[in-house]
Amino acid sequence: NTRVLTGITTTGTPHLGNYVGAIRPAIAASREPGVDAFFFMADYHALIKSGDAARIERSRLEIAATWLAAGLDPEKATFYRQSDIPEIPELTWFLTCITSKGMLNRAHAYKAAVDRNAETGEDADAGITAGLYMYPVLMAADILAFDANQVPVGRDQIQHIEMARDIAQRFNHLHGGEFFVLPQVQIDEQVATLPGLDGRKMSKSYDNTIPLFAGGKKALRDTIMRIVTDSRAPGEPKDADGSALFTLFRAFANESETVAYRQALEAGLGWGEAKQVLYERIETDVAPMRERYEALMADPAGIETILLRGAAKARAIATPKLAALREALGLRSSA
Ligand code: TYM
Repeated sequence: NTRVLTGITTTGTPHLGNYVGAIRPAIAASREPGVDAFFFMADYHALIKSGDAARIERSRLEIAATWLAAGLDPEKATFYRQSDIPEIPELTWFLTCITSKGMLNRAHAYKAAVDRNAETGEDADAGITAGLYMYPVLMAADILAFDANQVPVGRDQIQHIEMARDIAQRFNHLHGGEFFVLPQVQIDEQVATLPGLDGRKMSKSYDNTIPLFAGGKKALRDTIMRIVTDSRAPGEPKDADGSALFTLFRAFANESETVAYRQALEAGLGWGEAKQVLYERIETDVAPMRERYEALMADPAGIETILLRGAAKARAIATPKLAALREALGLRSSA
């Protein structure tokens, strides 16, 4: 069987980028025959970005409800919270000991933080935690603990999956065995990076996200109406490829709907109307999921039960895996 695995960091409200970049393709993959799916809430990763306990709890509930509302079947998939799996931080340490520091120096998130410090004239590492630096190793442990073959993610995560491969390869080489499967990244090229309100990558850190469910359909419409466009008036031809509206539309529409939307923009559809059409297209997909989402959000105890069952299933795999690794590393003998 093929193992498909992906996670979402519990630091905010799920947005359209999380949905089309990760949740939707992951659930589609989980429905293929011969696939075992592992989906989780990355709450250890959340600690790197946030010390706000209430926010992390709230985000976990929202993300879990989102996966379930989007069609994840917790009976079939293994659906869990990262912090319920003590084997993950244990494996993180084993991997840390063979990961080259130079590779971590090249990680995009760390480098971006160093560059920001350079711009403001600070010391290179000012305000940067070892947690941020180690982020890719923790993520490698998430993936390698379960021998995942495929990791569906948005484009911003490609480097992390490549690092996980590198780390796995190095461990296998140093310890002379096939201890880890080399994971492959799975990207939907159509939507590899969904733009946000300002045309940059939709991201919690840019504050430009369109929430998937939060605030209901009114918030969805109001937020879509705030997407930045150029100043071309109704009647003037629009540049579809240069417009975030078109990229967002394409992420939700089929081929013929996309062709029609492009033609309408090029024929001079006004931005206001174009936003209304986009809203209606997205709302058609989101409305039935939102109903399930709201029911799930009203039952946090039910979600907790699902996550605990998922953790037991996940540990049934990770516990023997780590036992074998401890033995290979000389920490325990098999006798
Ligand atoms: P996170 O929480 O930032 O994002 C979750 C997923 O959503 C995707 N995504 C996007 N895709 C397309 N367009 C966008 N604008 C967009 N914004 C976000 C991300 O690429 C990601 O797939 N480090 C990860 C979580 C993680 C993980 C893992 C993922 C921890 N361990 C192991 C896979 C495997 C993260 O912070 O994603």
